[in-house]
Amino acid sequence: MFRPDANAARFNSSARRMAMPELPEETFIRALELLVAQDREWVPGGEGNSLYLRPFMIATQRGLGVNHPSSEYLFCVIASPAASYFSSGVKPVTVWLSREYTRAAPGGTGGVKTGGNYAAAFAAQQQAVDRGCDQVVWLDAAEHRWVEEMGGMNLFFVRGTTAEPWIATPPLTGTLLPGITRDSLLKLAPQLGVRAVEEPITIDQWQAECAAGELTEVFACGTAAVITPVGRVKSESAEWTIADGAPGPVTMRLREELIAIQYGHKPDPHTWIHKVC
Ligand SMILES: Cc1ncc(COP(=O)(O)O)c(C=O)c1O
Repeated sequence: MFRPDANAARFNSSARRMAMPELPEETFIRALELLVAQDREWVPGGEGNSLYLRPFMIATQRGLGVNHPSSEYLFCVIASPAASYFSSGVKPVTVWLSREYTRAAPGGTGGVKTGGNYAAAFAAQQQAVDRGCDQVVWLDAAEHRWVEEMGGMNLFFVRGTTAEPWIATPPLTGTLLPGITRDSLLKLAPQLGVRAVEEPITIDQWQAECAAGELTEVFACGTAAVITPVGRVKSESAEWTIADGAPGPVTMRLREELIAIQYGHKPDPHTWIHKVC
């Protein structure tokens, strides 16, 4: 399992925001261990495949009313074998910049993992698909110009030279999810000689830097697809390609490195891997 402790901590920060009870981290991890041990035959072989684990908690108190949280909850873990996102090669995605819809506002629930965030995103995702795009990129709620994150992934921007590239990701303002893959890459990249910073970026900057050849790669990252290159950007008023639209060398290098740690092919200096016996 990859960083179950970090997932446990985010599960609890999400629970706090939703006025739900927290779960001892060891209980969360033990539940995952028990399910994986029980379902070990379902763990698919082959590079890139995985057993997708989905812990969740729901309110179960009976009643109608909106003034207080439930007094009873159910914690569950479900699992499903998942095929590699990239069985046919790493394919860059085209993203849709949503100006009509907003994912999260300051003080809201954007910084935690809760079902409502995803429900509220479907209309924009549908709009993206209708415009021939794969995913939505969310902008900030106040000015609609600061890039926040993608549908279910965080974003990184690659700048610098081939010899000295550096990567930047929008800071955790409370309106985007603190991705565990994002955190892992912020720690991993410097070990590969790639400086990594948290820095805001506007969509105008994104477009202008691409036009000037200063921003050479963009990728999204998250547990399910690890790292996905972003090739093209569309909005109501503009459309542009990032470099030649193909997966860039920094994107691919970070992807290979992270996958090698996850599959045990490379040392795991941060003890991110949790073995289930
Ligand atoms: C909205 C959102 N942002 C980012 C991420 C990436 O987070 P992680 O790297 O922890 O999977 C996810 C995935 O769960 C997500 O749903």
